[in-house]
Amino acid sequence: MSETWQHICPAVKLGEGESLGFKFGEQRLALYRVDDQIFATDDVCPHAFALLSTGFLDGHVIECPLHAGMFDVRTGKCTSGGYRDVRTFAVEVREGEIYINLETRAAEQG
Ligand code: FES
Repeated sequence: MSETWQHICPAVKLGEGESLGFKFGEQRLALYRVDDQIFATDDVCPHAFALLSTGFLDGHVIECPLHAGMFDVRTGKCTSGGYRDVRTFAVEVREGEIYINLETRAAEQG
């Protein structure tokens, strides 16, 4: 596995419909599990300082806890609130462990 893939945690720590925030160096990242797929975004909202992982996850949309901005965790697109999109990252689960590639976007950013 390439060095750009970073081990994060065991997949069992992230239940269906849950979000989980963590720090990787100076970076704050958020994981989400929806329909048994795992997605990763920056954890800090692009609008102001709030952690998306502490927001409300409804399907593939995370709602920011501070001003209710909404972001699709698959693409990072802001779907409500008119804020910038949030960055997304590629995720793989190997042998029950979650890895994130911090250099690979999961989807094109708008
Ligand atoms: S801080 Fe997230 S919408 Fe304002």
